[in-house]
Amino acid sequence: MNPADDPEAARRRDRDHLWHIWSPVTAPMTRRMLVQGTGPYVTDIEGREYLDASSLNLTCGYALPEIAQAIGEQASRFHGYDLSVATHVLAGAVAQRVAALMPPELSRTLLTNSGTEGCEAAVLIAAMYARIRGTPRTRLVTFDSGYHGSTVLARSLSGLPHLAHPFQEPLPVTRVPLPTSARDMRRPETLRPLLDSMRRAFAEDPDSPPLAVVIEPLLNVGGGVVLPDGFLAGLRELCDTNGVLLIIDEVSTGYGRTGRMFAFQRENVVPDIVVSSKGLASGYAPIAAVSVRETIYKAFADDEYLGGLRFGQTTSGHALAAAAALATLDLLDRENLVERSDQLGGLLLRKLEAFLRTGGITDVRGLGLFVSLEFAEEAEAVHLVAAAEENGLLLRRQGRVVMAVPPLTSDETVVQSIAETIGKALEVAA
Ligand SMILES: Cc1ncc(COP(=O)(O)O)c(C=O)c1O
Repeated sequence: MNPADDPEAARRRDRDHLWHIWSPVTAPMTRRMLVQGTGPYVTDIEGREYLDASSLNLTCGYALPEIAQAIGEQASRFHGYDLSVATHVLAGAVAQRVAALMPPELSRTLLTNSGTEGCEAAVLIAAMYARIRGTPRTRLVTFDSGYHGSTVLARSLSGLPHLAHPFQEPLPVTRVPLPTSARDMRRPETLRPLLDSMRRAFAEDPDSPPLAVVIEPLLNVGGGVVLPDGFLAGLRELCDTNGVLLIIDEVSTGYGRTGRMFAFQRENVVPDIVVSSKGLASGYAPIAAVSVRETIYKAFADDEYLGGLRFGQTTSGHALAAAAALATLDLLDRENLVERSDQLGGLLLRKLEAFLRTGGITDVRGLGLFVSLEFAEEAEAVHLVAAAEENGLLLRRQGRVVMAVPPLTSDETVVQSIAETIGKALEVAA
């Protein structure tokens, strides 16, 4: 029997047995229960169809035959193996494809299952590398409103209130507050104060110089915050001067979402480590990549204990996820999806800018198909998302910020439809 055949029973099972992630256990169960999708559209168990502009995972849209086939064929041939025991051809193929998208220095790829694990691995690699080189630093510098995952180490990188936990931090972290409002962040005048706050964070504890900076090139959970041009280049310089590693978290921005293959490529910088995930397999299977400088990888030969990294999961680089990733990367190439994200994103941004100062909207910003509307009040953002949903459009919300992040396979009709529905929803919410 298909579990979707009886909606009421499906709801009951979900309510009585599933512990929903990121959800208060006392919250009434009113979530959408999704059952199928095609392209940018998704249908719930009650048969309602929505245009999905809410998922950063979904770069290629739902039920794409090429990706589904690649996973199916791989499952019927060979579904995977623990990479700590044996390797398989797809893992190396993904590692090489990801390396080919990076600056040539980052030719080594570690595969994990999620963005969180990727960020943990990046920090662990940095800390072990520093120790192997005889400079055992541990302090990390991050943005206070950055997000890098939800496990104990990854969450401690963030100062977002909902990630606070009652445990001692595994490593010391200096969290840098954004010096101005998110609206002003991308302005050229913000560049110098922002770099100054980083400089102060580096110098904060002279007895514990920083090991690494971990930052998102566009802050996702922090509210779709676009950083000023030149920030990454300035930060790279600061890192070089102070012997600090630069870890770029591209989990939500990678693989074309911001109109570049990776958002850091808007500037001429070579990070030390890049973590990417969501768009790698377009959400069809869990996979993340940690791209590392070959020089860092090689240094691990001097590790006296293992001569390698003591990290990995049984399903790291799973063959089905690798098959999904290879099919996704083929599609990005063949359909010029990165360029499409840049063009369609520009169009979406212009259309949504027309709503500035209506319904409490104080800012419209974005890069590629990652467009954010900031409201004066959180309640206004909540209203917009609810009204859009009533009108068949799913949007993403983080506090006062509403994000429209449709698949990169969208077209002008989809962009027009998002803008029209938001316009209608703003009228309803007024
Ligand atoms: C920038 C960033 N880093 C890390 C993560 C964590 O990734 P995951 O949810 O796959 O563990 C996310 C997830 O939203 C993210 O946006």
